Amino acid sequence: MNIGVLTGGGDCPGLNAVLRAVTRKAVDVKSDKVFGFYDAWDGVLEQRYLQLTTDAVRGILPRGGTILGTRRGSPFDMPDGVDRVKKTFSDLKLDALIVIGGNGSLTVASKMYEQFSLPMIGIPKTIDNDVVGTDATFGFQTAVQIATDAIDRLHTTAESHDRVMVVEVMGRDAGWIALQAGIAGGATAIVVPEVPFDIDELSLIVRKRHERGRYASVVVVAEGAKPKPGTLKMPMRIDDIYGREKLGDIAHVIAPEISARTGFESRVVQLGHIQRGGTPTSYDRVLSTRFGLAAVDAAHDKAFGEMVVLKCGAIARANMAVTAGQTRTIDLELFADVAATFFG
Ligand code: F6P
Repeated sequence: MNIGVLTGGGDCPGLNAVLRAVTRKAVDVKSDKVFGFYDAWDGVLEQRYLQLTTDAVRGILPRGGTILGTRRGSPFDMPDGVDRVKKTFSDLKLDALIVIGGNGSLTVASKMYEQFSLPMIGIPKTIDNDVVGTDATFGFQTAVQIATDAIDRLHTTAESHDRVMVVEVMGRDAGWIALQAGIAGGATAIVVPEVPFDIDELSLIVRKRHERGRYASVVVVAEGAKPKPGTLKMPMRIDDIYGREKLGDIAHVIAPEISARTGFESRVVQLGHIQRGGTPTSYDRVLSTRFGLAAVDAAHDKAFGEMVVLKCGAIARANMAVTAGQTRTIDLELFADVAATFFG
């Protein structure tokens, strides 16, 4: 087979491990030819690619980022986008395209298959862990570990200064990183996009903790967290070049409001893209590897329109349409029954 592969959307640890696994299985085991498209869909539209060989993927298993580069944006954004994708399929005699992406890229791949019968296979990635149909995306566990390490470090400096540290982690529509890292790091409170917060209640949690003789707090906030309507003045929305809201300031809204209500000094720490960079954890390397191998099998089985997923520890397949335009939000029971037990 001639198999194309691309990495789309925000990068995440494990992308290179997937590329290695796809290549090793396709080239060494199946005698396929693998075209690695540069810069996500841009490379498909412009026929810019790297032929992926065993040599080309040597040594990349532990490397963060993606050797192919990535972009946001979709061929559907341009009038001749789909025709150009079809032309690439016919010029390169592609039998399948493996799309390694989050909700955005998988939605595009699903539409390419459903509406134009282009042979697409998906692999779910994102540190946000918000893809419907899989129990986990690769990259998430690494991001949680990075955030947990940061929270651990912030506890000691917070304690030295009797401060409230407000740590902002990624999580646009789903608070998985905040939830898991907050539980693992013993957060004073966790604020997620799924549960609009009340700044008075949040400040009360911090105050009560200090009344119990703990003079430092670490509050973990997902970047997409929102106050209950009408309770707080939010900064004006600014969009990025893709028309998505630029996030990354909610901690700067929350920290001074907590200080004003409690009188305790606060500081803001935004972990930002540190959560996406660097080497994947062993868990993510293994999950990426399993996904990559399974995607090649899916291509050979002509399971087009499907993505490989993790279900109860096993690799399975799910129709990509289940995630198109959707968000897998946090487990609210984990938030209420586990995380909230330790608030304060
Ligand atoms: O990949 C998803 C994500 O990590 C979101 O949590 C975050 O809002 C976004 O990427 C930031 O992306 P960018 O690289 O465009 O700043």
